[in-house]
Amino acid sequence: MKEILAKAREIAEVIRREGFVKIVTHIDADGITSGAIAFESLRRAGIDCEIEFLKKLDVDVIGDEFVWFTDLGSSCIREIVRSGLRCVITDHHVPDGYYKNQLNPHDFGYDGSYDLSGSGATYLVSKFLNPVNHTDLIQLAIVGAVGDLQDSRECKLVGLNEALVNEGVTYGFLDVERDLRFFGKQTRPVFKMLEYNFDPYIPGVSGSERGSIDLLKRLGIPLKFEDWRRWIDLEIDERRAIVSELVRICIRNKYPIGYIGRLVGECYILKKQAEGTELRDATELSTLLNATARYNKAEIGLKVCLGILDGDLDWAFRKARRLLQMHRRNLSEGIKLALSRMEELENIQFFHARDEIIDTIVGIVAGMCYSRVNLEKPIVAFANCDEGVKVSARATQRLVDGGVDLEKAIRLACERVGGSGGGHKIAAGAVIPRGKENEFLEEFNRIIGEQIRNGAGGI
Ligand code: C5P
Ligand code: C5P
Ligand code: ZN
Repeated sequence: MKEILAKAREIAEVIRREGFVKIVTHIDADGITSGAIAFESLRRAGIDCEIEFLKKLDVDVIGDEFVWFTDLGSSCIREIVRSGLRCVITDHHVPDGYYKNQLNPHDFGYDGSYDLSGSGATYLVSKFLNPVNHTDLIQLAIVGAVGDLQDSRECKLVGLNEALVNEGVTYGFLDVERDLRFFGKQTRPVFKMLEYNFDPYIPGVSGSERGSIDLLKRLGIPLKFEDWRRWIDLEIDERRAIVSELVRICIRNKYPIGYIGRLVGECYILKKQAEGTELRDATELSTLLNATARYNKAEIGLKVCLGILDGDLDWAFRKARRLLQMHRRNLSEGIKLALSRMEELENIQFFHARDEIIDTIVGIVAGMCYSRVNLEKPIVAFANCDEGVKVSARATQRLVDGGVDLEKAIRLACERVGGSGGGHKIAAGAVIPRGKENEFLEEFNRIIGEQIRNGAGGI
């Protein structure tokens, strides 16, 4: 921790020497929160700035201003160095080289998939830009980590993230609750929350409105008083009864204990935000942010983040909520399409969404498919995009523990077909030329086979 903080201080000092900074960030929840932290901390430090959101970094089109890359940049170090660009980087993707002004958990022996997010790395620098005026930014750092599913392996944030969680609690911005890990505890009627949960899949409940209502009736829990009751409206005993019933169903279906344990975990509540809104719960807020930038509306997500800090939320929050409704529809239709097209090769499974799922959400859809498909093979998803074909790959923790490294596999496969990509062991992405899908699949399938044969610590 000491070394990473020393690096954060060094980077803050480099930034402080500049009169103008261009922030370049990524179009997902972690990217928006990273960008918002950088934006707000520069504003507070009296440094002029502008912000640009990118789907994918192309170093050649950046221009000649001083740049602060957040949540991206690390996988393009070689290009950045070659281009002579003046910049600092706060990112958590696997770096493709060493760069002095880079704060990346991988450089300090941490795992960028779990121990620190792009927004966490950016927050560490913001501490030194505004030593007495940064504490509220911690809210955004936690939302970014949760948005990247960094709590997914252990059902809680770990590593440097855990230190940030403690900081958020100490500063009075965060509550940590051990609770059901289902989505929508703040905003959805309980029966809808149960129906829409697929992680873990609960037979008779997941995907079934009837089954979800029956479960509540069986337990004598009223669905409605004046309004539909949400999880946050339930009494503690009612919540306990539901969790016990879910556990019973899992046991009846012979689920492994480790899997059943995933029902409950740490949940992160932004205690300064209004109860019963998407802003209150880190998971719901990260989905709200994804619903903006992934549809080319990052400025709305940014405005929501800034509104979380200064309370001025009205316009942006309303717009973001409307986008969220569309995002939810797109995800649920996307999953249906993906499941109907999924094909298996020896070591992987894949689908091609063509133009039917947009490239910016095809990775989310691929990840969500795991609740319904073979858990023993990585998923590869294709979607057409302006630059060619977007590839998104997802694995499970078990596969990663068994040697699968999607980031390496995608880089190697891209070398063969002429694309470029990066990411993490458990989730990686790339863009490849049109028409190269089969060649990519063949190579990717071969590499994953090799990784599995070599086991953990292999290629
Ligand atoms: O671009 P970035 O690194 O910020 O995104 C990380 C990606 O990894 C996210 O899309 C997240 O959903 C994915 N992920 C995953 N499963 C995990 C951890 C992360 O699919 N267990
Ligand atoms: O786009 P997707 O959600 O599949 O991205 C998964 C991971 O791969 C993310 O961490 C993302 O930043 C990374 N990625 C990348 N280069 C791309 C596409 C995605 O490094 N061209
Ligand atoms: Zn990220």
